[in-house]
Amino acid sequence: MKIDILTIFPEIFQSGYLQTGILGKAIQRNLININVVNIRDFADDPHRSTDDRPYGGGEGMVMKPEPVVKAVESLDKGGGKSIKVLMSPQGEKFDQALAWQLAKYDRLVLICGRYEGVDERVKELCVDKEISIGDYVLSGGELAALVVIDAVARLIPGVLGNYDSAVEDSFKDGLLEHPHYTRPRVFRGKSVPDVLLSGDHEKIRLWRRKEALRRTALRRPDLLARARLDEKDRKMLKDLGFEVNLGGKN
Ligand code: ADE
Repeated sequence: MKIDILTIFPEIFQSGYLQTGILGKAIQRNLININVVNIRDFADDPHRSTDDRPYGGGEGMVMKPEPVVKAVESLDKGGGKSIKVLMSPQGEKFDQALAWQLAKYDRLVLICGRYEGVDERVKELCVDKEISIGDYVLSGGELAALVVIDAVARLIPGVLGNYDSAVEDSFKDGLLEHPHYTRPRVFRGKSVPDVLLSGDHEKIRLWRRKEALRRTALRRPDLLARARLDEKDRKMLKDLGFEVNLGGKN
């Protein structure tokens, strides 16, 4: 997958998060190709300014349309199925389902806004989708773009050593994950649940499913209400004392 990042702070992407761990390896192995574009290179006034005061008055500055649109237009065409995304607190809320949708593209163009926002005409001219990573306001879209890149990259075949772990991860089936344990067997007086040491794979699978259901019911009843549950799941929830249809505890 090719990912173009349009930003006035290219240094954020040049040495740090993207170069580390799973993402760093995916880039080295050419599974992901990152192209960072400095929006400031497309500002044509002597100060290379990318922001201006808002029409109608008010606090804060607005990102000028011309440098952003020109930066988008400077990208080479092609590269397969692509989508242009503006990172913005007004966008569609990012979640695992949206990550899976984006993972189907060959090319993502991520535009990072700054200041109070981006001139509305940018959205009309060259944005397919606005995405928000949550209901809070960041200083810019850069951190949000990193979040989206990380979540999407994990879903590209070959990026994780074991593709199944992406498929099994939290949220794929709409539930939070079951608890995990590793050695030592007893740590500061706290033991690993016996079932995990039993070697009985079916018993372990059932225990994990039950704990995932319990955790989701307690912490995120909103997810439970939308999760794909079968009859066995409903029975487990009932045994745990949760009312499935209401999505919360009885
Ligand atoms: N830019 C500023 N805040 C943001 C958010 N919550 N999500 C995406 N982009 C942003």
